Amino acid sequence: MNESMKLKDKIALITGGGKGMGRAIGLAFATEGADVVVNDLDYSNAQNVAAEIQSLGHQALANGADVSDSQAVDSMVKQAVDKFGQIDILVNCAGILLVKEIGETDDDEWGRVIAVNLNGVFYCTRSVLTHSMLPRQSGKIISFASVTPLRGEGSVCAYAASKGGVIGFTKALSREVGRSGINVNAIAPGYIDTDQTKDAFVDRTREHVMRQITFRRIGVPTDIVGTAVFLASEDSAYMTGQTIIVDGGVV
Ligand SMILES: NC(=O)c1ccc[n+]([C@@H]2O[C@H](COP(=O)([O-])OP(=O)(O)OC[C@H]3O[C@@H](n4cnc5c(N)ncnc54)[C@H](O)[C@@H]3O)[C@@H](O)[C@H]2O)c1
Repeated sequence: MNESMKLKDKIALITGGGKGMGRAIGLAFATEGADVVVNDLDYSNAQNVAAEIQSLGHQALANGADVSDSQAVDSMVKQAVDKFGQIDILVNCAGILLVKEIGETDDDEWGRVIAVNLNGVFYCTRSVLTHSMLPRQSGKIISFASVTPLRGEGSVCAYAASKGGVIGFTKALSREVGRSGINVNAIAPGYIDTDQTKDAFVDRTREHVMRQITFRRIGVPTDIVGTAVFLASEDSAYMTGQTIIVDGGVV
């Protein structure tokens, strides 16, 4: 084990870790010395990423809980604490996108976006705080927001509402648990090429999106990992309540 690793001997739980940015963060955390609980509703993807992490020489546990199910989340967290003894880092990365105008959005669609993107962050954070971080008076919580609530955009009201909620949740919670030595921050990515956006960034829309980015390229998952490692490490010890925009210059 390299002593200069930033997350040496830390235990991380990453929701939505089976692909996209969650997977990239899981692999980066392992490279920095962490053992990782990889959650994803797609359990086979979670297992694949767990195997990749094990091949890097670290322990990993795959879990298929739906983050919008609070009982499943509690079971996942208990299982993780039973195996590893603690959770030092929680990354709330699981999320879904809905691209639809408001008049076309039905109650169930609105509810599902809020349930996964906002309730899921609440359930996972509450459970990890209760079962590990508050008793140990230490921890790092990193949640995925987005630039959508910051800049406004058509056809993504439900998504923007859920991610705006994550930004408010992050600020409020940081005040509540700061005295317990817990850092609470969020990352707001811009436009990143993943399966979530593969149907959204096509043809003229893709060109339109690119024109809004200062760097004139759509991001890739590894563009986010440096910020995630920073927020998970002691390099960000004096930061809390912040939403860090990583968008290649959109906002
Ligand atoms: N891609 C972008 O441009 C972009 C921009 C801003 C924010 N985000 C946010 O970043 C995060 C990661 O997005 P991504 O682009 O890597 O997406 P992705 O679709 O590649 O990965 C998301 C993962 O979350 C999992 N997931 C979905 N619902 C779940 C649930 N209920 N319980 C557990 N796992 C669930 C999916 O199975 C998937 O593996 C999301 O919160 C997303 O909203 C993405």
